Amino acid sequence: MATLLHIEDDAATRQLVGELLTGAGHEVVHAETGLQGIRMAESERPDLVLLDINTRDLDGYAVTLRLRGTAGLEGTPIVAITAEGDRETSLAVGADGHIDKPIDEASFVATVERFLSGHSERREGPDDAVLRKQTRKIVERLENNLIELIQANERLEEVARLRREFLQNLSHEFATPMTPVVGYLRLLLDEELGPLTPLQRKCLESVNASTKKLRALIDTLLDVSHLETGRLHIYERDYDFAEVTERALDESAELFAGTGITLLRERPEGAMAARGDPEKLRRALIHVLDNAAKFTPRGQQVAAGVRRRGDGALAEIYEVVVVDSGPGISESDRERILQPFFQADGSATRSHGGVGLGLAFARHVSEAMGGGIQVISPPDIEVAGRKLDGTAVVLSVHAKGHAGVG
Ligand SMILES: Nc1ncnc2c1ncn2[C@@H]1O[C@H](COP(=O)(O)OP(=O)(O)OP(=O)(O)O)[C@@H](O)[C@H]1O
Ligand SMILES: [Mg+2]
Repeated sequence: MATLLHIEDDAATRQLVGELLTGAGHEVVHAETGLQGIRMAESERPDLVLLDINTRDLDGYAVTLRLRGTAGLEGTPIVAITAEGDRETSLAVGADGHIDKPIDEASFVATVERFLSGHSERREGPDDAVLRKQTRKIVERLENNLIELIQANERLEEVARLRREFLQNLSHEFATPMTPVVGYLRLLLDEELGPLTPLQRKCLESVNASTKKLRALIDTLLDVSHLETGRLHIYERDYDFAEVTERALDESAELFAGTGITLLRERPEGAMAARGDPEKLRRALIHVLDNAAKFTPRGQQVAAGVRRRGDGALAEIYEVVVVDSGPGISESDRERILQPFFQADGSATRSHGGVGLGLAFARHVSEAMGGGIQVISPPDIEVAGRKLDGTAVVLSVHAKGHAGVG
């Protein structure tokens, strides 16, 4: 009985090789990556190493070179499981032979045992050892860089995890005390706790307006936290896309009030039957409109249109196009602004408020409903009879919602 190390990232091949060799009474230890294979060869000291050439991190050639230069493993037979073209290179880097892929189950064990008992296809040329030594140094450097990268990646993943948890805790901690604040405000404003003087009412209305803003922010935080932890649920029900988006556009009058911005509308014709989550769609659209209102200078225009993509009644993609007269978005930022927290101007001195969550939310919602979000700047799109020159944001969904994905 011999102990064999098998380095292979494909689970099915690992299983096949394992079954064939253990069936013949051998012990097999498996490694899934080149780096792991090197570690295991050093610790397990196997009688033979079988390796796949195409492992994802360090490939089979690099692993062979590395093992050939490791004290105590210089003589261990190494057999590469290769496709036709890789054979010569395997021998040149120090393998003793190869087994063709796909594996021939009938002859596999006998071939491996031949290598175990000392058979080798390797022919050493005069310069081979020198060349191998040089190449091995390169591989060692590569290996160290790879280990550093893996460690850096682990640290990044840890930071991302902490950020997700922080967001989750923060939004939850903010949301909890909001409930009594909203409840008591309602009672006070409805005069359930006694009549209000005009001044008291004015103060409470102002508190109420700020509370609404805070609530909206907490809702977005909760949404994005749910989104990042995969817990944002998108409902599936029948709704009318035209009705929902038109209602959101009506509501957005509040956003444009006092800005001097004119909202031009292009209305859809007839109903647009759809399946999906109308409440989240409404909120997604409000985020897009909030941006248009925020970034468009006073006195300018924003145009919005609700449309079917493609021809008429057969079209299955519905979209809302919002075009503004703001500063536009540079090409390098166009993708990044769809990530949570990214803002083109993230400085403390920036002139616009917000935390950078609106578009991330809108993107997730639209994608989950079979559509997506497109940012075009400068836009060359006519909406409501006008071609405005800031940014166009196209929010789309599939008429069949999630079922329309793919
Ligand atoms: N219409 C627009 N014109 C110019 N820049 C925009 C526009 N919409 C978005 N951006 C840029 O994309 C960034 C991200 O937008 P997003 O809506 O995700 O966050 P926000 O508006 O900064 O904050 P929040 O929406 O959470 O209040 C903005 O900070 C801005 O830099
Ligand atoms: Mg926003």
